[in-house]
Amino acid sequence: VITRVRARQILDGHGAPAVEVELHTNKAVHRASAAGAGALEGAAADAAGGSERRKILARAVADAVRVINDKVSEALVGMDPQQQAQIDQAIMDLDKARHKAELGANAMLAVSIAACKAGAAEKEVPLYKHIADLVGKSATTLPVPAITVINGGKHAGNALPIQEIMILPVGAKNFEEAMQMGSETYHHLKDIILEKCGSDSCNIGDHGGFAPNISSISEGLDLVVAAIERAGYNGRIKLAIDVAATDFCVGKKYDLEFKSTKKSGQNFKTADDMIVIYSQLCSEYPLVSIEQPFDKDDWEHSKKLTTLDLCQVAGDDLLMSDPERIKRAVSEYTCNALVLKANQVGTVTEAIEVVKQAKDAHWGVVVSHRSGDTEDSFIADLAVGAAAGQIKTGAPCRGECLTKYNQLLRIEEELGSEGVYAGENWRTVSTS
Ligand code: PGA
Repeated sequence: VITRVRARQILDGHGAPAVEVELHTNKAVHRASAAGAGALEGAAADAAGGSERRKILARAVADAVRVINDKVSEALVGMDPQQQAQIDQAIMDLDKARHKAELGANAMLAVSIAACKAGAAEKEVPLYKHIADLVGKSATTLPVPAITVINGGKHAGNALPIQEIMILPVGAKNFEEAMQMGSETYHHLKDIILEKCGSDSCNIGDHGGFAPNISSISEGLDLVVAAIERAGYNGRIKLAIDVAATDFCVGKKYDLEFKSTKKSGQNFKTADDMIVIYSQLCSEYPLVSIEQPFDKDDWEHSKKLTTLDLCQVAGDDLLMSDPERIKRAVSEYTCNALVLKANQVGTVTEAIEVVKQAKDAHWGVVVSHRSGDTEDSFIADLAVGAAAGQIKTGAPCRGECLTKYNQLLRIEEELGSEGVYAGENWRTVSTS
């Protein structure tokens, strides 16, 4: 049984305050953490920026630590950690605010993850197996990694408007080979950027992707295609982009030069122009997934793009991992994949529910980290246990990214011949 819950402030991958939880049972102590503070504090902190941002987050985390040590601990003591749904309900009962604004979704998630780890230990099964049981299915599948290789948007100081270019080694025979192919390509890309753009272009952005001084999506994709070719993986590695278009939507238009001080005026695009750009990219490159191609509230154009059936259209800010928004997107066919950020939903049980919701709609599921994540590798086990098919957790670089990839390598080794790599079925892995 749970004997106490203790929280403390740690630092996340941005050096910002985050909540770490230790959940004690009569047998062991289980640790978990989740990046950042609550949604409201996060928004206020982002608006403030700089050292003021850090102060706001620190206050939010200190509040969450107090609530966990006091109210949450009291509510969970005596509960069986295997009963994840009851534990998550008890946590939710303490915070009835929408989007967990009171306690902070990250703080709640850290408690919920710690309980999930304790539940697995109590059952004496690996964490991914316990999660598969909670999902109610027996299948466990190693996901295809969407490995970040180039950063732009708000995640880098270059002029590239989109946030990420990723590579998907769908043609690998297993997860280990996928990571080998991914990291070889990453290193070839570094050489190519060095040759073409100079050494200062090899600096890395937020998720460990390179941040070369380029300004167009096709320049970035050309560099990555060249790296794939040089690595000898032509045809076995596909491409994905995270546009994060909400960040450069101005009114109803998209400012592809939003980070430039000298604007040419040629790059202020309508949503329909963006559809033409995406269609061209899909015909010219092995581009198989586009995340958040429009503003978070532009349901109409997201639907228009999805209906063209060019590639996977993944909803990030559009969905916010929110069951209501997912329901609407399913019924209106606004996108065809979920980007699951567990700290947006708040608990393990709710995260599993939204994965099921997406799977029932035959959507793809991308289990995602947050930028500036902590070193907790829970999402690796979640991706396997929920048979998501895809995981997005940055470059093969930076500890908070590698901890997830390395955990997946361990899981694959442990599963041995039972370990199935999603590979070419990355969009359609079933949980049954
Ligand atoms: P975020 O981005 O944590 O900054 O929202 C993460 C991602 O979309 O990869």
